[in-house]
Amino acid sequence: MINRLAPLALKVNGATHLVSAAADTPLLCLLRNDFALNGPKFGCGLGECGACTVLLDGVPTRACVTTAQVAVGREITTLEGLGTRAALHPVQQAFVEEQAAQCGYCLNGMIMTAKALLDRDPQPSVATIQRELSRNLCRCGTHVEIVRAVQRAAELLAARDGARA
Ligand code: FES
Ligand code: FES
Repeated sequence: MINRLAPLALKVNGATHLVSAAADTPLLCLLRNDFALNGPKFGCGLGECGACTVLLDGVPTRACVTTAQVAVGREITTLEGLGTRAALHPVQQAFVEEQAAQCGYCLNGMIMTAKALLDRDPQPSVATIQRELSRNLCRCGTHVEIVRAVQRAAELLAARDGARA
């Protein structure tokens, strides 16, 4: 069967774009190839490692096994939608401060999953952080620094939100 191209409206990082793609195109391919958003990484391509994680309506979602059609009508947030190089999001800032990377390949998924966790639970326990990130694989073994980074992110967010109040 031939999968025909069709115009799909995708809302990515707050802006809606029309792309021409087969409905079953993996969202990750569109984000990286059509939108030049290379925060989400291609790791396993099987939904197993978490390197490709984006938020769909705030929920961590594996873009390699999510079709473009599923993402239509949803808010898609990628790493690029969090902060900028000049103004990092507190979660990104915390990962830098805690030096929570070796190769950095897993960090997109770690940061996006941590962002969603902290949106739901601003003061997660270590056990909760470990559980939430347990399906994001890090081949470099920087798990201790990553957990510390999420704890620091919680502190930075609390300080930011306190300053705004
Ligand atoms: S690349 Fe998507 S889960 Fe591994
Ligand atoms: S820092 Fe290399 S995979 Fe996590």
